[in-house]
Amino acid sequence: MARKFFVGGNFKMNGTQKSIADIISNLNNANLDPNTEVVLSPPALYLLLTRSQADPKFGVAAQNVFDKPMGAYTGELSVEQLHDCGVSWALVGHSERRVILKEDDDFAARKTKAAIDGGLGVILCVGETLEERESGKTVDVVTRQLGAVASRLSVQDWAKVVIAYEPVWAIGTGKVATTEQAQEVHAALRKFVADSISPSVAENIRIIYGGSVNDKNCQELAKQPDVDGFLVGGASLKPAFVDIINARL
Ligand code: 13P
Repeated sequence: MARKFFVGGNFKMNGTQKSIADIISNLNNANLDPNTEVVLSPPALYLLLTRSQADPKFGVAAQNVFDKPMGAYTGELSVEQLHDCGVSWALVGHSERRVILKEDDDFAARKTKAAIDGGLGVILCVGETLEERESGKTVDVVTRQLGAVASRLSVQDWAKVVIAYEPVWAIGTGKVATTEQAQEVHAALRKFVADSISPSVAENIRIIYGGSVNDKNCQELAKQPDVDGFLVGGASLKPAFVDIINARL
């Protein structure tokens, strides 16, 4: 079975009511590849606006979620609250949270489990720093990050996961991974899933690439056999996001 191409737009901490409404209106009116699943991830304050203004064919993702159901957790959002607001996805383990907010592998794993148990899909981000790549540790790092999540999920849970390979050195730097670098890591991740979870999960799971994807480099990356889509930061705020969604046309 062919894996459905998946493109996420991670707006990060960018945008206003006006600019986000403009991005959504542009997407609502664009001719988009019907074979691509598109998920929009605005800052939490704008999740409701995004859900109410975006065409229902678009999914909406929170950029973060907490692993507890409710209570005294100042500043956090629960899975149930996201669900209540029509948000059907959450990003987990983004490097900006791992590196800046010091979130560790097991926290990402607990959040992933909580999100899936509460009915959300998870875009699970993994990726190595430049230092880790240069010391030959890329595959060790991304499989360690994925392995922490694997230790908490059931085999069935993986149907709700999209893995995003986002090398930290490529995020927001304009330095995109080469098609070979991306394909190599995606293939290693798929092999890890086949060996440690199941061959059928490996066959079906989408592994998307993130890190300086733009309308110029997306087509070559999209041709790689193990690249099933993109997680786009900066370029998702621009009209050219449409060309990235349509990378396979
Ligand atoms: P950029 O596309 O801005 O490099 O960001 C990638 C990213 O971190 C998406 O989650």
